Amino acid sequence: MDLAKFLTDALTEIEQKNLFRRLPELQNIDAGFSRNTYLGNHFGASGSRLISGNHRLYARLEKELSLWKKTAAALIYPTGYMTNLGVISALMNKGDLIILDKLCHASLIDGARLAQADIRVFKHNNSASLEKILRQSRNYKKILVVTESIFSMDGDRTPLLELTTLRRQYGFWLLVDEAHAVGVFGERGEGLAGQLGVNQDIDIQIGTFSKAFDGLGGYVCGSRLLIDYLVNRSRAFIYTTALPQIILQKNLANLKKVQSKKRREKLWKNIACFGARLGVKANSAIIPLLIGDEQKTLALAEKLRDSGFIIPAIRYPTVPRGQARLRLTLSAEQTKRQMDKLLKIILKALK
Ligand SMILES: Cc1ncc(COP(=O)(O)O)c(C=O)c1O
Repeated sequence: MDLAKFLTDALTEIEQKNLFRRLPELQNIDAGFSRNTYLGNHFGASGSRLISGNHRLYARLEKELSLWKKTAAALIYPTGYMTNLGVISALMNKGDLIILDKLCHASLIDGARLAQADIRVFKHNNSASLEKILRQSRNYKKILVVTESIFSMDGDRTPLLELTTLRRQYGFWLLVDEAHAVGVFGERGEGLAGQLGVNQDIDIQIGTFSKAFDGLGGYVCGSRLLIDYLVNRSRAFIYTTALPQIILQKNLANLKKVQSKKRREKLWKNIACFGARLGVKANSAIIPLLIGDEQKTLALAEKLRDSGFIIPAIRYPTVPRGQARLRLTLSAEQTKRQMDKLLKIILKALK
């Protein structure tokens, strides 16, 4: 089914019942009697966005996000986790089909479970496996394909061009979570979709302020219809308190930093240098050091901690059994000296 048609029909029905909700503009309005600030404390929003928490910075930040992502509109949620939960469960229902990459993040899986739709899983980054499922699924009216552009535990890239070609061929809706691509890919750090010029071929682009932004909150970018629909139908958006003003300010300021080319160039220098010394091909800022055995991975993580490095040991169920690893993340601020020190310990331990 065409996404625009589905959204238009749903919004028309909501409007006809006089239930359409619009985000309120709160400038010069006394919202005091709609907040939950019982003791008169004023730090947070103390209200949901549809009631009293829609600070005007939201509109500014959402506008900036949509310009940056080249979409018509954007919507901010309190976290990236809630964005995935709220978006997927609002769009999909019993009788629909959600097809996820095998290594999708827990928030994407939980969103799919909450939707109560049928769930199928395709082999990691394997568009032939996805196509096989699509061929078997012609009876479904609504199909949503869900993936990440850069995978959180493996740091590898999804074959985005192949997926967008399949989308044109099969007409499914495509959701791409760019949590780990934002800041790292794209001329202005807008992510892998932007770098490959396929923003228009992705129906739903997800992101979070909690990675490259070093802030808090999640967001979804897409059509105006999609955002209007989510404002009216996404329970993880509607039934929760808005972000505090100070967080919105920080996210807005950090958007400028994320767009800075200088930092990204330094990051890629570090990625290239670190990857070469380790003897791996680094595809992103995430470098998984695959150890396999859980106990050995924990032992190496402990050794690194004793030398002053906290590198998390990632084990089942975050990754499949027997694929335990250390998950290293590189950044623009790491110095050569720091990287040399860490590499020395790792290379010695792996000998
Ligand atoms: C791919 C992906 N999506 C979503 C999230 C959730 O984002 P947040 O931490 O903002 O809830 C994460 C990580 O936490 C992630 O790795």
